[in-house]
Amino acid sequence: MMQTVTVRVESRTYDVLIGRGLLDRAGEWALEVTGPCRAAVITDDIVEQFYAKRLEDSLRSAGFEPARFVIPHGEASKDPENLIRIIRFLAKEKLTRGDAVFALGGGVVGDIAGLSASLFLRGIRLIQIPTTLLSMVDSSVGGKTAVDLPEGKNLLGSFYQPFRVIIDPDVLSTLPEEFFADGCAEVIKYGQICRKEIFRWMEDPRAHLEQLIAECVKIKRDIVERDEKDTGERQLLNFGHTFGHGIEKCSGFRLSHGKAVAIGMVLMARGSVKMGTSTPESLQVLTRTIQKAGLPTSTDFTAEEIFEAVLSDKKRSGGSITLVIPDEVGHCRLEKMEISKAEEYLIRGLDQAQE
Ligand code: GLY
Repeated sequence: MMQTVTVRVESRTYDVLIGRGLLDRAGEWALEVTGPCRAAVITDDIVEQFYAKRLEDSLRSAGFEPARFVIPHGEASKDPENLIRIIRFLAKEKLTRGDAVFALGGGVVGDIAGLSASLFLRGIRLIQIPTTLLSMVDSSVGGKTAVDLPEGKNLLGSFYQPFRVIIDPDVLSTLPEEFFADGCAEVIKYGQICRKEIFRWMEDPRAHLEQLIAECVKIKRDIVERDEKDTGERQLLNFGHTFGHGIEKCSGFRLSHGKAVAIGMVLMARGSVKMGTSTPESLQVLTRTIQKAGLPTSTDFTAEEIFEAVLSDKKRSGGSITLVIPDEVGHCRLEKMEISKAEEYLIRGLDQAQE
């Protein structure tokens, strides 16, 4: 059975399709929004081995003319050099505004292919086909595209909504367990920001896969529809990410995004209990669910190290910072605060005494 989640934002209305086996029918589902055209399939060297041919066969059967461009897997590929390589590939292949880019892969591929599509000819059509849990529940939906600069992550980017997102949960069968766990961190994030039922489904995530993906996409849809450009409510999606990004940076990006966010969420939850703004139950539920997903809940980095990295992050604005504060199980709120108060949340979040 296929589920359809429609996203309506100012720049575009598009469907996110979720269903087992959709990869082999991606051509017909893309055709509805693009018509037959040239299809630039952007993927990475790992995903290519498993899924590029299957996607291209489906595209050809539907009347598309596919051409493939492959980047090395990993965050290091999300850079301006690869961005230009992809755009020059689109130019050499003589794609026009009537053609389409297909992003087949995880967050790295989705972000860089999305940015390429938004820049080439000032914007050509983009179809997202995410292949990791993280990109299915988060990065493929909502239109954020970017590459990293030496000065920081995601500093060169745009808001560019896809024309369609095609999610086939079956492709997760080839995703290594640690990458699946990374995606679980983002799923748990949705549970804590607004849907506590997710904690129950996370007892056995593979048994609830389609339900979890659809629920997370709907939550993201609702938030993005109200705040496409990330000026307010969308910042809720950063729960655990402020301290998480700091930890990721301290580790020299050796710690994965999902693991760092998992630790960041626990620090925020513990800090909130100790600051008297949240319940001990919310910390317990969150910590237990994160541990069950095989994710870490603590770090050896000090408050000073993490906070220095946090302050160099782009989410700081002037003399204040907005933190996502959990206040009970399945609920968070945004609070803009002085830098010193944010640091107190971190210091208290790291202090595991009296637990
Ligand atoms: N990944 C957070 C956002 O899309 O806003």
